[in-house]
Amino acid sequence: MQTRVLTGITTTGTPHLGNYVGAIRPAIAASRRADVDAFFFMADYHALIKSDDAARIERSRLEIAATWLAAGLDPEKVTFYRQSDIPEIPELTWFLTCVTAKGLLNRAHAYKAAVDKNTESGEDADAGVTAGLYMYPVLMAADILAFNAQQVPVGRDQIQHIEMARDIAQRFNHIYGREFFVLPEVVIEEQVATLPGLDGRKMSKSYDNTIPLFAGGAKQLRETILRIVTDSRAPGESKDAEGSALFTIFRAFASEAESAAFRVALEEGIGWGEAKQILFERVETDIAPMRERYETLIARPAEIEEILREGARKARAIASPKIAELRDAIGLRGMTSAPVATRKSKPASKAVRAPRFASFRDTDGSFRFRLFSAEGEELLLSKPFKNPKDAGAVQKRLKTLGGEAATVHTLPNSLVLELDGEPVATAPDYSGDLARDEAITYLRVALDMLAAQEKAE
Ligand code: TRP
Repeated sequence: MQTRVLTGITTTGTPHLGNYVGAIRPAIAASRRADVDAFFFMADYHALIKSDDAARIERSRLEIAATWLAAGLDPEKVTFYRQSDIPEIPELTWFLTCVTAKGLLNRAHAYKAAVDKNTESGEDADAGVTAGLYMYPVLMAADILAFNAQQVPVGRDQIQHIEMARDIAQRFNHIYGREFFVLPEVVIEEQVATLPGLDGRKMSKSYDNTIPLFAGGAKQLRETILRIVTDSRAPGESKDAEGSALFTIFRAFASEAESAAFRVALEEGIGWGEAKQILFERVETDIAPMRERYETLIARPAEIEEILREGARKARAIASPKIAELRDAIGLRGMTSAPVATRKSKPASKAVRAPRFASFRDTDGSFRFRLFSAEGEELLLSKPFKNPKDAGAVQKRLKTLGGEAATVHTLPNSLVLELDGEPVATAPDYSGDLARDEAITYLRVALDMLAAQEKAE
């Protein structure tokens, strides 16, 4: 069974060496595992909260997409997309907003920090705070919950956001009486190195101490490495490897044996200049082939665009039936679907309800079955089968088919489900196109739920 692992990358700024070692490289390595179903996306709606510079937003999206692809992200294996290409995310954000306690958002670290700062300086508590910043955790919850992500790898500063996503999911599940959302778990990579920057503090854009990953090419990489601050020990004097940023960065790229050799060289007194040259060459060995791919990609933005659109298509195939299910559950239904009075506004029990099959013997002796939605509405009536085994085999296939893969033909007031080009079931008569199209959505949702259930078992 695969675990769905999802993470977002806020598209502000240009990736540096610290981002590569701390986030990009481990995420791509994890995405290659056979038991991982990875979703990586560019959180460009989140970027709008931090920046109103359109050119910078545009540039950063391109650079970040090219960086991840150049670093080895395989878009065939990973669902890689832009948040802003998924209209289901803002739609879900609103549904979640309406069940989220305002008090919960008051407690978000980023918002609280802004309020505290204002209060300290005698300003109005909310001065300069946008509703976007305030709503940040809800948008992030929608990113995660739209795809039923099970694990969310993030930095420590994001733990609270995942806890809030769980909170919001639970609240929605409780209010609408069904397990609509999987509760996501936060994953903190403990072993991942945080790289020191030029001044020895954590490499971060906010300290202005970063080493660029690709920008400026090998020349810039070398020049920046030469600016790493060292102590004043002269060539010939023994250097403290552990205490030096040079060594820490080297170790993030090198094998054990290479690191041991570099340590000995430092302890035996090679000059800092020479040590920096060795560090540059080691980093360049890893980075050069990626930089080449990066430059090729950046020069062909249409290719990146195509990859991201395909990613969005894959992502929406999951998010769209999910939203259809939610719309129905919260009462945003077509006017022609079953009259309000005949639908229960809430399920009788809190138990998880699922679509189900019911087999029966028809009057002519044939074996047939019906498929009912989680809400108990009839979705399909099978054709007659000569024996129960054949009927069972078709049910079994339908359990794993999934909504997206289902071939559904529409008749004026009905629909036909096909397997291998053969009609196997029809739906009840509908009063019009709208009702019929809605029925197709319900059918796909039910097939998705069955497939998800089957996968979980
Ligand atoms: N807020 C995250 C960060 O700054 C980025 C992000 C947005 C994210 N949506 C997400 C991460 C969903 C994980 C899941 O790092």
